[in-house]
Amino acid sequence: MQKLTIRRPDDMHLHLRDGPALVRSVADSAHRFPRAIVMPNLVPPVTNTAQALDYRERILAALPAGPDFEPLMTLYLTETLNPDEIAVAQQSGHIHGIKLYPAGATTNAEFGVTRMERVYPVLERMEKLAMPLLVHGEVVDPAVDAFDREAIFIERELAPLMARFPGLRIVFEHITTREAADFVRAGPAHLVATITAHHILLNRNALFAGGIRPHHYCLPLLKREGHRQTLLEAATSGDPKFFLGTDSAPHTRYAKESACGCAGIYTAHAAIELYAEAFAAADALPRLEAFASQYGADFYGLPYNSGSVTLEALPGEVPASLSFGKDELIPFRAGEQLSWRIRP
Ligand code: NCD
Ligand code: ZN
Repeated sequence: MQKLTIRRPDDMHLHLRDGPALVRSVADSAHRFPRAIVMPNLVPPVTNTAQALDYRERILAALPAGPDFEPLMTLYLTETLNPDEIAVAQQSGHIHGIKLYPAGATTNAEFGVTRMERVYPVLERMEKLAMPLLVHGEVVDPAVDAFDREAIFIERELAPLMARFPGLRIVFEHITTREAADFVRAGPAHLVATITAHHILLNRNALFAGGIRPHHYCLPLLKREGHRQTLLEAATSGDPKFFLGTDSAPHTRYAKESACGCAGIYTAHAAIELYAEAFAAADALPRLEAFASQYGADFYGLPYNSGSVTLEALPGEVPASLSFGKDELIPFRAGEQLSWRIRP
């Protein structure tokens, strides 16, 4: 049997949600990750330090007995965010990034940015204070093909933004294309990217396997096989610019299985196991630890986690559904097999 012991990992892009749903998502994440960068796209969004600190308390209150878990908070960038709030956020010691959603780009992104110029004063302050900008990198222009929105975002928005704020620390979140991987690789050291497990395990055929598959619908969309291979190469390359961020994004079964289903894939129940499967398939297991437990911490200026987790190549079945507050959640691989397990 294959076995791998790594330093305990960080999830550098996670949606925990709020209210009763927190119990499920916090428990699953904390079982695997002692820290996570927590996304602010609640309803209403987390737009200032006070709200982020309150949300942090709710997350900690939902934590089951046992695992330690440090929520690394973020603020949602709106056009009315006061630049002075950046220093307040930083001084709180709990806020590690500001999240840019192009308005309307994804779930709960309607309070995001319509024109970058409107947030230049905030970005200038962030550049000065070395506060990272976490970017959902897709254009919202309906004339752009849904599968091209990330690549076009690089040309239209990200490259010009970096030219204007050359010192701004940027995480290009959940990259899905060769264009994004190449852009990050060629950029300065303070431009990095997170990569999800689902984007290195699946290509876009998974959206249409035998019929339409709402539980494989996420944003940015799954892409062609060539892109999946490029992302897997980037993740397993040992390049510190690429690190783990699951983008685990739970929605109720009802919200996904609908004539207009929401974007988001839930992987928190098996996240590190799924990355191990992808790395094993690429014959790159020795590179998993740095990708999962070091490069993200290095970028965010955090000490490495203490302790270790052992993964074993043993089959395990994912339940067909999970409880989610009063609702039901369909996890990634529901009713199917995982090939790695965490040793209890
Ligand atoms: C995320 C969500 O549901 O909050 N959905 C997703 O498909 N990834 C938002 C996001 O990160 O785009
Ligand atoms: Zn996300």
